[in-house]
Amino acid sequence: MQGLRQTTITRMTLEHEPARAVKRAWRADLLDFTATPSWGSPDEAGVRLRPDHWLLVDEQGRIEGATPHEPGHDWERHDHRGRLLMPGFIDTHVHCPQLDVIASWGAGLLDWLETYTFPAELRHADPAVARAGAERFLDALLAHGTTAAVVFPTVHKASAEALFEGAAARGMRLITGKVLMDRHAPDGLRDDVPGARAECEELIGRWHGRGRAAFAATVRFAVTSTPEQLAMAGELGRRHAGLYMQTHVAESREEVRRVAELHPEARSYLDVYRRAGLLHERAVLAHGIWLDAQDRSLLHDTGAHIAHSPTSNLFLGSGLFDWSAARAAGHGVSIATDVGGGTSLSMPRTLAEAYKVQALQGERLTAFYALHAATAGAARALRLEHEIGSLERGRLADVVIWDWAAGPVAEHRDAVARGALAGTTPQALHARLFAWMQLADERNVVQSLVAGHTRHRRAKGA
Ligand code: GUN
Ligand code: ZN
Repeated sequence: MQGLRQTTITRMTLEHEPARAVKRAWRADLLDFTATPSWGSPDEAGVRLRPDHWLLVDEQGRIEGATPHEPGHDWERHDHRGRLLMPGFIDTHVHCPQLDVIASWGAGLLDWLETYTFPAELRHADPAVARAGAERFLDALLAHGTTAAVVFPTVHKASAEALFEGAAARGMRLITGKVLMDRHAPDGLRDDVPGARAECEELIGRWHGRGRAAFAATVRFAVTSTPEQLAMAGELGRRHAGLYMQTHVAESREEVRRVAELHPEARSYLDVYRRAGLLHERAVLAHGIWLDAQDRSLLHDTGAHIAHSPTSNLFLGSGLFDWSAARAAGHGVSIATDVGGGTSLSMPRTLAEAYKVQALQGERLTAFYALHAATAGAARALRLEHEIGSLERGRLADVVIWDWAAGPVAEHRDAVARGALAGTTPQALHARLFAWMQLADERNVVQSLVAGHTRHRRAKGA
């Protein structure tokens, strides 16, 4: 195998509600965002808290509205008073097969790929392994409060197929596509241009636009695709309306150097993708740490966006994402776990790390801004704001009910914050929500709904 680096040539039980069509109402503190909140200051811009309201969901699983009054007996009522209900989180970059290698010790990006990731992904060549992996992964997303995702499977068609099938069975919004990699990867993990094109076309024909599925031309990164393969991925996007593109960009300095060696014709790493026609408004690029001003303008001009992956960037030692520069350039930023480089599927944990990454650069990320980025902001960046990311009438009821606190320390902290809420200023709400964002994880998830159906319920006694 030719190495990545020049120097190393070498089920949780599903509780499905009955299929009968019923109207359901959910009582809780309803929180969502109606606009992008302010950066760096917790004022009320864009934040909508409707304390102790009922969220009304029609027979088709769409949000009909919200009311402080208990609805009539024609509604099936679910009382979660004292809990928090938010739109389900949207994880815009995560690797299904990498649950096998999450939390693996001691390597930077390129070594980590060779040592842990590629051997794990090879095992998913077996369709039975891929199917079991997809089921485990999708159930885990729901158990962590994530109801929609943009996902990397492996190079094997069966692994993408397994994700599409699993998401369809759960009614989930899922964007994926078989991984493209035709060089610098081990035997068994490489494809070639004609074979990859045929497999992508087959998957597009079967899944793209079917139910809540969409296909993404899934370029692993500029190291593992030839220029011919990158061009083929660009052509796919031009041939099929609504196709996504997902990849990695400018994650580690060593990777950036390697890409410069492999693509001397390009001005920058991001420019490799521009030249192949891969930057457009449905392009999701993970990381984007080592970009310059010209790259950021290119993202803005093309409508492509960055999936910021803080736990992964810290864990692999890749660098600190400059969110404030991204804001200044005006390009989109969503939030991603990037498991298994990332260390948790939990979005609150990911947002807590995003806060610390900004703190190291002298910025203070607000809970409002962060939670918006992981819900309505992500929906907007994916051009799916008509479907997900808010509690607005007409959206599908992809929503999650959370405990405000799990465990004695968080309970005490929340009680203190609730006391401060007596004045109900945006600052007091922010203080409570910020403590929640820093302390919550999957233990706080009570129930996850997809299009109004319960797809995860916390086990009794947990
Ligand atoms: N760059 C190319 N492949 C990967 C991957 O699987 N994870 C991360 N974090 N970066 C990558
Ligand atoms: Zn990744």
